[in-house]
Amino acid sequence: MTRNPDLIQWHPASWQSKPAQQQATYRDPAALERTIASLARMPPLVVSWEIEALREHIAAAQRGERFILQGGDCAETFEDCESDKIAKKLKILLQMSLVLVYGLRKPVVRIGRMAGQYAKPRSADTETRDGQTLPSYRGDIINRPGFTPHERDPDPELLLRGYERAALTLNFVRALIDGGFADLHHPEYWDLDFVRHSPLKDAYEHIVQSISDSLDFFEATSRAPIHEANRVAFYTSHEGLHLPYEQAQTRFIERQQRWYNLSTHMPWIGMRTAALDGAHVEFFRGISNPIGIKVGPSMSAEWVQGLIATLNPRNEPGRVVLIHRMGIKDIEQRLAPLVQAVRATGSPVLWICDPMHGNTETSSSGLKTRRFENIVAEVEAAFRIHRELGSWLGGVHFELTGEDVTECTGGARGLTDADLARAYKSQVDPRLNYEQALELAMRIAGLHEGKNKKKRSPPST
Ligand code: PEP
Ligand code: CO
Repeated sequence: MTRNPDLIQWHPASWQSKPAQQQATYRDPAALERTIASLARMPPLVVSWEIEALREHIAAAQRGERFILQGGDCAETFEDCESDKIAKKLKILLQMSLVLVYGLRKPVVRIGRMAGQYAKPRSADTETRDGQTLPSYRGDIINRPGFTPHERDPDPELLLRGYERAALTLNFVRALIDGGFADLHHPEYWDLDFVRHSPLKDAYEHIVQSISDSLDFFEATSRAPIHEANRVAFYTSHEGLHLPYEQAQTRFIERQQRWYNLSTHMPWIGMRTAALDGAHVEFFRGISNPIGIKVGPSMSAEWVQGLIATLNPRNEPGRVVLIHRMGIKDIEQRLAPLVQAVRATGSPVLWICDPMHGNTETSSSGLKTRRFENIVAEVEAAFRIHRELGSWLGGVHFELTGEDVTECTGGARGLTDADLARAYKSQVDPRLNYEQALELAMRIAGLHEGKNKKKRSPPST
């Protein structure tokens, strides 16, 4: 048991004595217990020294020395656990990060919403169609999207299938990155076909060429390849929603004398499960990972201050990432008071902006969508508001895919409501497609370009 005095009353199951929102109800609790016991014996998906490395990166981002790019699907699905889709998602994140490195002149830390983003909070516990009421679909690790009693029944076996797919995904991502796929000397490895047909082609190629020239210049003058800087690090994250699953992967690491959730590098607390006296906050309190906290427009200053005091009582750098998701309607009024309230705590946090979840709307045909221009406008407002307050916006959080889906409207191709039906694949929230995602990175880079023009330093990643 840990000797940390803050955690005297904590253990990985202590959350069970608190009210837990958004949990599935299993018909056979004994079967769930058996599954959790077998998950607890399996090897972890990540290790503590990777988590500690990410914590250092986040601490650097808190000091304004790095920028975070966090992105991926709203919900991963078991069906999409296939090589092409995973590689494309990695590629678009790498491409976006290259554009951000170029625009911000800062190393970018890449964190996928990947390898475990399988559980979703829902606005209602049940769904009714044609007079039939069934449990809501809560993500592939819990039940299935089809509307039959069998498919909607929470099944503990799916926790094992989810763990396995997370491991397969991570294994593939690690192999690609270790094998040189993410080497900055070879951005052509990450080319997505679309770039050749895109209105963004020239701008993107200009950025790639500039980075490549800078690398050549640096290597020629230093007479050494900058190996370390060429290799990019990639981390994983998911919403730590399904507490039995997260508990099963939480281990005490003797060497560090701390508990870690080894299912992912950076779990986050979703907006619907951030109650101060709730089970999720209790669980997150005891793990040593860097943690994200979604901060929505209904959160009060006292609530956010309470979360910081509970989750980071020793004010450790690199521990807390506040992911604000206000929406274009609310950001002007809601963000500044919270930034000031957090500053008053004196505790170090990293602020990052999720411009997706406050901008969801229903299209004329009834599909959930988001307008590209609202997303861009929220990011722009976020940079401006932080700057005006002398605060630093150190990252962005997006829902995106490496594929040609039509879920968000707008962007360089001007997708309209009428286009949404063509390739709408998400079961949950609408994602940026590859072109919209890259365009967004370019718009962010564009916001900073003028300011950084005079700085000359070799790119690092
Ligand atoms: C999400 O990130 O998919 C999500 C549900 O976000 P939030 O908790 O901010 O609504
Ligand atoms: Co979402």
